[in-house]
Amino acid sequence: MTMLVEPTPTRAAVTKAVIPAAGPGARFLPATKEPKEMLPVIDKPAIQYVVEEAVSAGCHDLLLVTNPGKRSIEDHFDIHGELEDALADGIDQRLAEIRHGSRRASVHYIRQAQPLGLGHAVLQAEQHVGNEPFVVLLGDDLIDVRDPVLPRMLDVRARYGGSVVALLEVPRDQISAYGCADVRVELDAGVVEVADLVEKPAAEEAPSRLAVIGRYLLDPQVFPVLRSTPPGRDGEIQLTDALRTLATMPADHGGGVRGVIFRGRRYDTGDRLSYLKAVVQLACERPDLGPDFSHWLRGFAATLRG
Ligand code: G1P
Repeated sequence: MTMLVEPTPTRAAVTKAVIPAAGPGARFLPATKEPKEMLPVIDKPAIQYVVEEAVSAGCHDLLLVTNPGKRSIEDHFDIHGELEDALADGIDQRLAEIRHGSRRASVHYIRQAQPLGLGHAVLQAEQHVGNEPFVVLLGDDLIDVRDPVLPRMLDVRARYGGSVVALLEVPRDQISAYGCADVRVELDAGVVEVADLVEKPAAEEAPSRLAVIGRYLLDPQVFPVLRSTPPGRDGEIQLTDALRTLATMPADHGGGVRGVIFRGRRYDTGDRLSYLKAVVQLACERPDLGPDFSHWLRGFAATLRG
């Protein structure tokens, strides 16, 4: 993927990432009596992909917004002394994987006391983040490690200021599952000025087919905006509604929202069917499993009837 602009010194300033992980996971019951973020995607829990993506983009200070049922997430990113000792003899790759999550970043936790929505979850990060731009990553969307989107978003923030969202063009009949962006001006190849947003519009009312996927680079001005954002869709405080306010605010008050159009590989793990497809796609893409698995899959597919 081509870089849009030269990196600037402000790019290095974004070191904090917030990962909301307090959702109930109702679409995966009964498995999600355990946290849905811990569902294995091949051999790693879903949330580890997201943590690794944030760390790769330079965010070494991670805040996970959890709730009381999510203790196993904290255990996962803890330091596993006994396991590391047991694996120390020879199995270097697996050891490296285990260390990856716990040693390359500082992971912090805060509880969202009530399930009042994504905007409310992000608001819990205010004290930890302070007056800095920060990244938000949603765990239902996995971005292929070969097609990173955060570096492009950081470049766009460095150039234009304000906040940045990742946008994916989806079929019109799917837009009602997402925040949808109304875009007017293309600023640069694959970078658009976002004029307005609407959370989960009906297909016939959607201003575009551009869906907000779960990667945000937010100006800290989002916090006061969220504090005064009333409950929106489904009675929840919506991050999309706060972005909508930011889009109309002046640049010298932290306003402005741009979108980076994402054209890479993305895997949706948010419901059972998408999750199954994501696991199969990822397995086919993996160098260690892909050749054998794809070979088997072709044979299996041939046995399926019409
Ligand atoms: C959330 C956001 C939505 C966004 C989506 C991306 O919705 O509210 O704007 O498009 O994540 O995955 P959720 O999927 O949590 O209902």
